[in-house]
Amino acid sequence: MRVLVTGGAGYIGSLTTLQLLQAGHEVLVLDNFSNAKPAVLGRVAQLAGREPAFEQGDVRDGALLRRLLAGQGVEAVMHFAGLKAVSESVHKPLEYFDNNVQGSLSLLSAMRDTGVRTLVFSSSATVYGLAETMPLREDAPTGTTNPYGRSKLMVEQMLQDLAAADPAWSLCALRYFNPVGAHPSGLLGEDPQGIPNNLMPFIAQVAVGRRAALQIFGRDYPTVDGTGVRDYIHVQDLATGHLAALGHVHGRPGWHVFNLGTGRSHSVLEVLRAYEAACGRALAHEFVPRRGGDVAQSWADPARAESALNWRAELSLAQMCEDSWRWQSQNPNGYD
Ligand code: WQD
Repeated sequence: MRVLVTGGAGYIGSLTTLQLLQAGHEVLVLDNFSNAKPAVLGRVAQLAGREPAFEQGDVRDGALLRRLLAGQGVEAVMHFAGLKAVSESVHKPLEYFDNNVQGSLSLLSAMRDTGVRTLVFSSSATVYGLAETMPLREDAPTGTTNPYGRSKLMVEQMLQDLAAADPAWSLCALRYFNPVGAHPSGLLGEDPQGIPNNLMPFIAQVAVGRRAALQIFGRDYPTVDGTGVRDYIHVQDLATGHLAALGHVHGRPGWHVFNLGTGRSHSVLEVLRAYEAACGRALAHEFVPRRGGDVAQSWADPARAESALNWRAELSLAQMCEDSWRWQSQNPNGYD
């Protein structure tokens, strides 16, 4: 299949692009490099043994999208492009709605005008907001506490309305839990700009000596050891989930939503210990007050994806840490 991948130079987008190429698909990557480096695409090509086609640009550029979708035989779109920092979204809501909601609307309008009707959308478990009952199933109540999560939920609702209005569309939202890890070659991985918001890239930078110590946000949660509990999923498993979803929804019109998680959960301390085992040294850390907006625990019930997509996350926390450490130690300053 010929697939347009927006945000294909990003962390999850690049690993998914690699797997699409390895599976024999033709890939056209669109990226504006606002949160990705050009070097990524060379590494994807190195690992895949062939280049993806590439256009530098923004999903909000309707004319560019129509040219890409109409002129190049695209049959499906995977939409990763967007802003994704929860804390930043609280301070810059308009930037998040412009990039994430307007960007998706621009893409959907161009797809409508060019007859491309299959979309796999990068959503997030953050749409479950303050849901209490674990594990989380796709029919759990949604509701979010920040503009980033709201932007994801708004796009999901746009997709549901579009699928209801026009049965020609195949529209799929994939709700990621906590993506971590890197390609086992050490050539592709997470390269956050500035201070990492997320746990594992921060731990990785402590391990490689770029950060002095991990701050653990809260030790008084009602969890196994008082620290926050999450469903960490290897980015390689996440990528295979995208290919499984694409195969499932293409030619299967309607609205589809799947959790992409392992169904297993780990505390912050468990992740820290696993990373220490992977890098072979103790990692400095200190306990500080809770981070605003954090929930105590969140993990997936992945049963729907397992049965409908015949997909299951296979990789362990140890493998997530080993692959992350190989990437970080081989690329102490990311792609720079
Ligand atoms: C995980 C745990 C923190 C950093 C967010 C978004 C979600 C998705 C993934 C985009 C929590 C603790 C973290 C640190 C810490 N992003 N922590 N010290 O908050 O579950 O999810 O990122 O799609 O949408 O909401 O991930 O990695 O930030 O936090 O103690 O320096 O690690 O309190 O318990 P989170 P996270």
